[in-house]
Amino acid sequence: MRVLVTGGAGFIGSHIVDKLLQAGHRVAVLDDLSTGRRENLPRGVHLYPQSLLDPGLPDLFEEVEPEVVFHQAAQVKVSRSLSDPAFDARTNIEGSIRLLEACRATGTRKVVYASSAAVYGEPLTLPLPEDHPLTPLSPYGLSKLTVERYLALYYSLYGLKYAVLRYANVYGPRQDSSGEGGVVAIFAARAVRGKPLVIYGDGTQTRDFVYVEDVAEANLLAAREDLPGQLVVNVGGGKECSISELAATCARLAGCDLPRIHQAARPGEIKRSALDNRRAREVLGWQPRTPLSEGLRRTLDWYREQVVPVVPES
Ligand SMILES: NC(=O)c1ccc[n+]([C@@H]2O[C@H](COP(=O)([O-])OP(=O)(O)OC[C@H]3O[C@@H](n4cnc5c(N)ncnc54)[C@H](O)[C@@H]3O)[C@@H](O)[C@H]2O)c1
Repeated sequence: MRVLVTGGAGFIGSHIVDKLLQAGHRVAVLDDLSTGRRENLPRGVHLYPQSLLDPGLPDLFEEVEPEVVFHQAAQVKVSRSLSDPAFDARTNIEGSIRLLEACRATGTRKVVYASSAAVYGEPLTLPLPEDHPLTPLSPYGLSKLTVERYLALYYSLYGLKYAVLRYANVYGPRQDSSGEGGVVAIFAARAVRGKPLVIYGDGTQTRDFVYVEDVAEANLLAAREDLPGQLVVNVGGGKECSISELAATCARLAGCDLPRIHQAARPGEIKRSALDNRRAREVLGWQPRTPLSEGLRRTLDWYREQVVPVVPES
């Protein structure tokens, strides 16, 4: 199958690329390398180092003629979406609309879209089912939801099939640990250097962590031809894990007694989160295979490899 992965040089996208290549597909990547890295891509993948907003997008589609598009490219920072909502909307909404237009013009069969638990907002029940009310708390959550709605519209107007995957907190090798990276990436990068782990608030807040290779597998399953043309599924572990528990497991796996530093809770953060993954199990035949301790072990191993050893001066 000919496929295009937008954001394929990024954290999740590059794992999707790996799995697609293993399965024997012909893979092209569109990525402006704003947060993605060329080094994340294996050989044999054609990288178009350009933006979704580049006027050359239709030409790229004519060249690649993708049957399926895995759409991962996005402005991913909630804080940036709050400080610069227009930038968020341009990348995430306008960029996606341009992509859908290119799909329509070249007859792409399906779009598999990286949405987020951020579309739900404050949970009324846990774990959150897909039919939970959608009241995003940030421009980022709203831009993800808006694209879900565009996908539904393009399906009814033009028959362009889609699968929306609402990711929980994805973690694993290649995740950015700087700034507003995921909490696992930040903990792992600090743990392998023996640095204290900073916990905002009392650490009882919970998140649903799902390993990146499991998320990549969900993407491949979602591209199958025998699925309904419209699909919205949660992709998460289905379980809550507290930040204190996460810090304790990271410290244990790092093999040292890392101090934990508590700082003031960050305003606007939800207290608890977990996604109900029953629909993904039933419809996609997917399950989160990697237990948290195993995923964290692999993640720590990767961060350990990234630490440049300090050579003592002779
Ligand atoms: N990491 C998570 O826990 C998580 C959770 C929910 C949803 N998501 C979604 O998953 C997707 C992948 O996120 P990630 O965590 O791998 O982040 P990432 O920053 O590693 O990946 C995003 C990629 O998109 C590229 N990109 C950004 N703007 C672009 C543009 N205008 N044109 C072309 N490429 C562009 C970046 O260079 C990067 O490679 C995003 O859509 C994100 O919103 C991630």
